[in-house]
Amino acid sequence: MDIHRKKINENIVLKTSLDVMHIKKACKIVEDLLISLGSIVKPGIKTIDIDKYAEDFIFKKKGISGLKGYMGFPGTVCISVNNVAAHGIGNDYIIKDGDIITVDATIGVDGWYGDGAWTYIAGEATSEKKRLVKAAWQAMLAGVAESLAGKKLGDVGSSIKKTALRHGCNVVEDLAGHGIGRKIHEDPVVLNFGKKGTGLPIVPGMVLTIEPIITLGSGKVRFHSDKWSIIIADNKLSAQFECTLAVFRNQTDVLTLNSINLQKYIDFPPMFQ
Ligand code: MF3
Ligand code: CO
Ligand code: CO
Repeated sequence: MDIHRKKINENIVLKTSLDVMHIKKACKIVEDLLISLGSIVKPGIKTIDIDKYAEDFIFKKKGISGLKGYMGFPGTVCISVNNVAAHGIGNDYIIKDGDIITVDATIGVDGWYGDGAWTYIAGEATSEKKRLVKAAWQAMLAGVAESLAGKKLGDVGSSIKKTALRHGCNVVEDLAGHGIGRKIHEDPVVLNFGKKGTGLPIVPGMVLTIEPIITLGSGKVRFHSDKWSIIIADNKLSAQFECTLAVFRNQTDVLTLNSINLQKYIDFPPMFQ
């Protein structure tokens, strides 16, 4: 989410456990789509083919895209290649060996939304590209680990940024996570940087996304002439993982990583063989 389009921390709608059950259904489709895209995102296909695949997949699972038509967004999902940080639109571009592709899906079921993104490396990857994608995965997990009732949003942001820096990468500070529920973007804004022990307290009933964008460049961004795609200003590579999570009194559930044993993937994302 682009932080400049959003006012900060105004109206947080806390969710009941019944609300979370609804959101979980949407999140399940997000997760299933992102897993199945692992065998689709390969060199030789066009990015628009990914969008069509997602459209078909979501339709079959009886969900809707929360992105299509959102503020005029034309795609079913966001597809961001290499130096595109976020909000890329599927088009006739043919994926090349070694491209880094982020697919971000917001999906609705019965008026409730879930949101998630994965980065895929198409074909052969250099060790630098693997380092970047690994950093993005670990930065997201670091944010998840701090998203506990009783902690603060500054704990989340500071641990995300620290993790990126530890891997020799930067975060894109202009993009942030967010609350989610009946709307695809709700308060609060979940910044990918911050100071430990500061910021809004995390409380039970919050449903949030954690979605740091990590780059090998400086982290500055600019808009593409298509008015949607957000480009890494120094044109370096970027990667992103996003999850939706629900905060309860004694635990936090990652709703878009439900069928995945996170213990097994502490170091690398699931599609990394
Ligand atoms: N799914 C994106 C997010 O994580 C929202 C993209 S808004 C769009 O917040 F309009 F660009 F699609
Ligand atoms: Co998203
Ligand atoms: Co999001």
